[in-house]
Order: sequence, then structure tokens, then C-alpha cells
Amino acid sequence: MRSADCVVAGCRQLLTCRGPVPKRKEALRDLGIVEKGWVASDAGTIVFAGTEKEFHQAVRPADGAVWVDGSGMVACPGFVDPHTHLPFAGNREREFGLRLQGWTYQQLAAEGLGIQTTVKATRAATADELRALCLRRLDEMLLTGTTTVEAKSGYGLNLEDEVKQLEVLRDLGPLHPMDIVPTFMGAHEVPLEFRYRRDQYIDLLVGTVIPEVRRRGLAEFFDVFCEPGVFSLEETAALIRAAKEAGFKIKVHADEFTTLGGAELAAKMGAVSAEHLIAVSEEGVRKLAASGTAAICLPGVSFFLMMDKRAPARALIDAGVAVALATDFNPGSSHLLSMLFVLQLGVFTLRMGVEEALNACTANAAYAIDRHHQTGTLEPGKKMDLLLLDMSDYLSLAYKLGPNPVRWVIKNGKVVVRDGRKVDAAR
Ligand code: NIG
Ligand code: FE
Repeated sequence: MRSADCVVAGCRQLLTCRGPVPKRKEALRDLGIVEKGWVASDAGTIVFAGTEKEFHQAVRPADGAVWVDGSGMVACPGFVDPHTHLPFAGNREREFGLRLQGWTYQQLAAEGLGIQTTVKATRAATADELRALCLRRLDEMLLTGTTTVEAKSGYGLNLEDEVKQLEVLRDLGPLHPMDIVPTFMGAHEVPLEFRYRRDQYIDLLVGTVIPEVRRRGLAEFFDVFCEPGVFSLEETAALIRAAKEAGFKIKVHADEFTTLGGAELAAKMGAVSAEHLIAVSEEGVRKLAASGTAAICLPGVSFFLMMDKRAPARALIDAGVAVALATDFNPGSSHLLSMLFVLQLGVFTLRMGVEEALNACTANAAYAIDRHHQTGTLEPGKKMDLLLLDMSDYLSLAYKLGPNPVRWVIKNGKVVVRDGRKVDAAR
């Protein structure tokens, strides 16, 4: 018999999303459903997921164990958001207004606005201010069911301010229940002061900032925006080489607006993920399918920028790519914190099935940040990161638009959201 200090009992549907992970093709449609399911954990780790009968045979709850009644609700893994630009200051409401008058995202960038606007605001912010902004955002994410988030720097674009962003991410650890996976993205843009000597910025990244960020242990991943006008294919390859040499795992903003071959490069260089892919080529799809590189689709971007073009999620899935979904939370191209809304965009705009979209927000999203051994499914050995949703059938994840169905969030075996409200206690 296994001991347990947390039990979730009698869920109407338990969506385990169980492995193997990553899920490709038909496997993406399997949610591993247990009707009237029970889940139990001990010290934050799942020890059981199955039926009531099996539970009573396998688990002995400890005295004082926390019991949560799941009856009438659907349980699923906490959402994993594998692509965000969390630590930024300022906002771009005015530029949004300009876009509504017909400016494009690229035109704003060419005027020195866009990412550069946020670089100015983020450089001017203190670490305390940035931390406070992040805490509010993390709360909103937690309330809509996200329990693990990847977060990129990339609005500092110099050693000091990139380090400031990454130290803020590190310092959030003890202050919030969310698990945060830090990514260094000094190659998000060429800063204005280097506009006419871009090679020197790349030299600075390669020679100083990449090794220094790694030496300080501030980030696990390195990410680069591979796009005409930002970093070319050759520059991206050189940056990835330097980052790998320093010990980073790799992510690539690939083929977001222009078909450049970023996906092929990501697959070839062993990146953990290629992200965006609105303009991925057929060859890029094939190369991703034959690789271990995950494809992160970010349907919030096409939606928020009102683009007709979308990432070809169906073609990616049918080819056998490990597809994940994420918010791309940022102030310019996807000002969006809710993974549930992303799941719905996956269904309505990328033509994914609800099952595919949920697996892409949980199991495969964890794979896309190399956390699939810890979270993303409800199976023994994984973290007890679980949501209880106020719905009678999981199809309502996409069928019922608007209200937030997340009633309970359990993170690392602790109740952090109860009846839709955050429980006030540190991690
Ligand atoms: O993922 N593509 C580059 N970076 C972000 C946008 C950042 C911004 O506009 O501030 C993205 O879309
Ligand atoms: Fe992004």
C-alpha cells in the first residue's frame, strides 16, 4: 500500500493525458480517460491515478491527508505554457491603436517601435517593479490553470538588463507556486544602439553575454528570433553554436512571418523546440517530423495580429510532428495569458480536435520545455499538478466559451486555487 497526503476523489472524468510523451499523430487524440477517476499524491508526487476500486486496493491515505471532492467535475493535468515573454515592463496600447488604424506589426518595428518600445520600458524598470508585474501575471495564469511556465528574457538586450530580467525570474521561485523555466533571449532583436553595427551585437552576445548568463546559471534555454531583419539563418546558426557550446538547450523563433528555413535549422541543430511556424515550409514540416524537435504553435499571434495566415497545425500533426501550444504572452503580438483560450484558438483557428489541443497544452507542452518527466500528465512519478474544471464533459473545454471553468488548482500536491480563488500561502 502507498501512503498519500493528498487525494482527489471521484472526478466525473479524469483526463490523465498519460504517455508515452511526446504524442504524435493518433496518439495526440488519446486523453487516457478514467470515468469516476481518483488521483493521489504523496509529498507532491503522484502515487496513484485510476478507479475507486483500484484506489482502495493500492493507497492508504495518511492521517490528516487533504481530500478534494472531484464529483461533478473534470480533472486534467495543470496546463504547461512553453513559450512566454513574461518579464517585461510598460505596455503597447498606443501601438495597438495604430494597428487598428492599419499599421502592421512589421511597420511598427521598422519605425523603431514594437519590441524596442518594450526594451526602453524594461530597461527603465527596477527589478522590484518587474517582479511585481510578473507576480500579478503569474496569479492570472494560475487562476486559469497554468502550473508551469517558460519565460524568456529579451527586452534588456544588454548584459545588465538581460541579467536583471533573468534574476527576477529566479527570485520569483520562492514567492509563487508556479514552476518557471527560464530562457535567455538576448537574440530577440538587435538593440537600436547597434542598428548600424549589428555584427558587433552578435559578437557581444557570442563573446560575452551568452557565456556570462550561463556562468551565472540564470537560464536553461537559449532562444533566437530567426526572421529577415532580425537574425538571418547564418547568424542564427552561429548564435546557436555559441549557446550550445556554453551549455544551453535550444529554442528557435522560426518561420514566424517569413519562410526562411528556421524550422529545418532547428531540427538539424537539435533544438528542443521550433516555435511560431506560421510560414513553415513543407520541407520544414518533414524535417521536424523526423526529429525530436517539438513544434510550438502560438495561435494567439495570428489572432492578435489579425492575420489570415496560421501555423499549419493539421499538416504538422498529420506528418507526425510533436505539436504543442503556448500563449506567446508578450505586449506586442499576443497579449494573452490564458492557456484555455489558446486551447480554444487551437480548436477554432487551427482545426485541432479538443483532445489534440489538450494534449498539446499539457503532455507535449511539457516535452517542448524538457519537463515531460516531471509534469504534463497525471501518472505515478509525475508532480501532482492537477486542475478541477466545472464541466460535465471535457468537450466543454472548447464548447463553452467565456467563463473560467477552473475551480481548483493543485500544484506540487498543494491546493493553490480553491473555488476559483487563490489560496494565500507561499509555495
Ligand atoms: O514571439 N517574435 C518575436 N517576439 C515576440 C513578440 C515580441 C513583441 O512584440 O514584444 C513574439 O511574437
Ligand atoms: Fe515569442
